[in-house]
Amino acid sequence: MWDKLLVNVNLATMDATQPAPYGAVRDAALAIKDGRIDWLGPVGDLPDAPEELAREVIDLGGQWATPGLIDCHTHLVFGGNRAAEFEQRLQGASYEEIARAGGGIISTVTATRAASKEQLHEAALPRLRALQNEGVTTVEIKSGYGLDTTSEIKMLEVARALGRVEDMRVVTTFLGAHALPPEYRDDRKGYIDLVCKEMIPTVAEQGLADAVDAFCENIAFTAGETERVFDAATAHNLPVKLHAEQLSDSGGSELAARHKALSVDHLEYLSEEGIRAIADSGTVAVLLPGAFYFLKETELPPVQGLRDAGVPVAIATDCNPGSSPVTSPLLMMNMACTLFALTPEEALTGMTRNAARALGLNEEVGTLTNGKIADIALWDINHPAELSYWVGYNPLAGLLKDGHEVLHLNTNYRIRTR
Ligand code: NIG
Ligand code: FE
Repeated sequence: MWDKLLVNVNLATMDATQPAPYGAVRDAALAIKDGRIDWLGPVGDLPDAPEELAREVIDLGGQWATPGLIDCHTHLVFGGNRAAEFEQRLQGASYEEIARAGGGIISTVTATRAASKEQLHEAALPRLRALQNEGVTTVEIKSGYGLDTTSEIKMLEVARALGRVEDMRVVTTFLGAHALPPEYRDDRKGYIDLVCKEMIPTVAEQGLADAVDAFCENIAFTAGETERVFDAATAHNLPVKLHAEQLSDSGGSELAARHKALSVDHLEYLSEEGIRAIADSGTVAVLLPGAFYFLKETELPPVQGLRDAGVPVAIATDCNPGSSPVTSPLLMMNMACTLFALTPEEALTGMTRNAARALGLNEEVGTLTNGKIADIALWDINHPAELSYWVGYNPLAGLLKDGHEVLHLNTNYRIRTR
């Protein structure tokens, strides 16, 4: 007996072994047992009548199911916001100028240090719900607005707690090397020492981070400083990722590739050599159209080069107060198509299968495949391209995480229980 059986559904499995576009299986059924996908295929291949096979039969009325969306790059825990800085930028100040004048990331650091865990939690919750309302079942959350050991730990604890409360799979990333805090203005080496010798060991020992990230950029950390952070992460068995090539080509991607990084993220200025390096290391390229749009960037990431080299491309919101105050994964898929010329199928792959890989979770989630966790988004659409097509319209009909219904928004689908 299965726990649940979805029938009268079209599956966009996103499983590369399924030959059709989107790995589609039409007129399908999908069975769930103990929170995992136990069977899927054409409904005609079911061995018996649905009611004989499962305790609960969900008739989806011909709707589409996809893997639950995965937002693999966010900074959604932070204090305050930067709407005032947005106004300054609209009057002509650049993101880099504001950062160099002590605003930017550092202004969010001040607000985040001042906030209690409860306040950070309260502020982050509506943003997390907004992601969930558009089909997200897994989200990555970075630290990096604390920049002292206590505040970095506070951010990671808030992120872990959000996962428990909101029925969301939360993956955490330590980003102590996000910016140089003001108290280390004249001692860069001292801050990297703190990150490598105190923060990473503490975070690793307390099991608070699943990976380590850094911001390799002329307004942040050099490749040499980033390398020290990576070495410390590796010494504590934590995989690495990198904010790389966002505002200039700093060679971060080659460095990340040498450390077998899970992902390199942003990549507007990625070079040919960078592409070759990450293609060889199997690193995922995470594109962040929200930051590109919000900072009014003009340099486009080398999408065709990534395609030609066979690099898996993921898409994420980069939800953060400075460069991407975005809580809409569907809008990011749309912008990945309109701004970066991805196809709608590539955009959905980027929010599912490749995003799972960017988090090292590709064995568990990211496709509708037998044996994987039953994180499933149900959509009231006629074709999966609609997920990249609508702007500001949300066709989510329901959401399952670990096989449990966490959202039931559209009553067009009927549940029959035995
Ligand atoms: O992903 N690039 C660095 N970090 C963030 C921005 C952080 C901020 O401006 O607060 C990003 O764009
Ligand atoms: Fe980021």
